[in-house]
Amino acid sequence: MEEELIERALQVRKNAYAPYSGFRVGAALLCADGSVYTGCNVESAAYAACCCAERTAVSKAVSEGRRSFLAIAIVGGKEQVKDYCFPCGVCRQVLREFCPDTLQVIAAISCEDYRVTTLGALLPESFSAADLQ
Ligand code: THU
Repeated sequence: MEEELIERALQVRKNAYAPYSGFRVGAALLCADGSVYTGCNVESAAYAACCCAERTAVSKAVSEGRRSFLAIAIVGGKEQVKDYCFPCGVCRQVLREFCPDTLQVIAAISCEDYRVTTLGALLPESFSAADLQ
C-alpha cells in the first residue's frame, strides 16, 4: 500500500507548478473505498494564494464525493527528493477536517525510503468540528 501511494505521489509531483519556490511536491490520498486522489502544489504570483499538494488532493477527493481517508503519501524537494516532506500546519488542519487521528501520513524519499506517522502525532490536541458542538 505504501509503495503504490508513494509511486502515485512521485508521478503527480511532475505536474507541480512551483516557479517561485522551485520546491515541487506531490501527494497521493487513499480513500476508504480504495480510490486514490493525487495532487501537486500550485503556486501563484500572489504568494498567499499558493496551494499545497496535500490540499489539492483533498479538494479533488472531496469534490468527487470522497470524505473518508486512510492514508496520504507526500514527496517534496527542489530538483530531486532528498529529504522527508511532512505536511505544513495548514494542511494538517485541513486533513483534520476529514480524517481521524489514525490517518497514516507517509513522508517519502522513494518507494524504499519512507517514514510513516499519523495525523494524531502530527497535530495533537487539535481543534476540530467536534469543538463546535
Ligand atoms: N508545499 C506543499 O505542497 N506541501 C507541504 O507540505 C509543504 C509545502 C509547497 C507549498 C509551496 O508551493 C512550496 O511547497 C514551498 O513552500
